[in-house]
Amino acid sequence: MHRQTTAVVAMDGPAGAGKSTVARRVAQAFGFTLLDTGALYRTVALAALRAAVDWADVAAMSRFAEALVARRGVEIEPSEASGMRVRLDGEDVGEAIRTPEISMGASQVSAIPGVRAALLDLQRDFVRLGRARGVVCEGRDIGTVVFPEADLKVFLTASVDARADRRHRELAGKGSDVTFESTRAEVAQRDAQDEGRSIAPLRRAADAALVDSTGLDLDAVVAAIVELVRARLPAAAEGAR
Ligand code: DC
Repeated sequence: MHRQTTAVVAMDGPAGAGKSTVARRVAQAFGFTLLDTGALYRTVALAALRAAVDWADVAAMSRFAEALVARRGVEIEPSEASGMRVRLDGEDVGEAIRTPEISMGASQVSAIPGVRAALLDLQRDFVRLGRARGVVCEGRDIGTVVFPEADLKVFLTASVDARADRRHRELAGKGSDVTFESTRAEVAQRDAQDEGRSIAPLRRAADAALVDSTGLDLDAVVAAIVELVRARLPAAAEGAR
């Protein structure tokens, strides 16, 4: 039997805990590939918006996501610059999926079982067929649903205020004039949606290491997780040298 040799690091946690940046930097530290699963839900939300499919229409969204994936409308590939590139019908949508509107849409469509099912094989195939020495997969349900057998699971969290503050600075840096209050409300609403949904809710896997980034700078968080990878996956980590 062919043995699965790609080491899988599962990184889950709520919005704004620094997960994307940390995952990208941990992947870079070891030459692992990055799988940003939130980008997939965002791309489905963007595609639906463009096709005028209602995010709240469960049956239509399920059919739409299934057809989109079946015709390979969503493609992901490793990228030097950002860690992972996502295309919608050939177009690089890396920027277009990072708006507050698409954040809410992604959170909404990700609660639909048909949408989650449509994206499951895409995520597993990326790891199975990618032949990377290691992959850092970040999302909400990686350690619980997508890769329950992951070699290392990390649950990265932070207080709502710390996460809202980070997201607010990020948006302000891009020239947005949204207020801290509205950013905080949006973070809290996404938490409620992501934790409260009946399918694959955001929760820490029993065997996930808890990392709380409140009050820590991202360098410290990256260093802590790099240590965990070295300790838990010495062979894959060694290959990086
Ligand atoms: O990590 P992110 O902000 O890019 O994720 C966007 C939305 O997608 C988020 O609100 C929840 C959803 N998501 C999910 O349900 N499961 C994942 N594995 C990743 C993201």
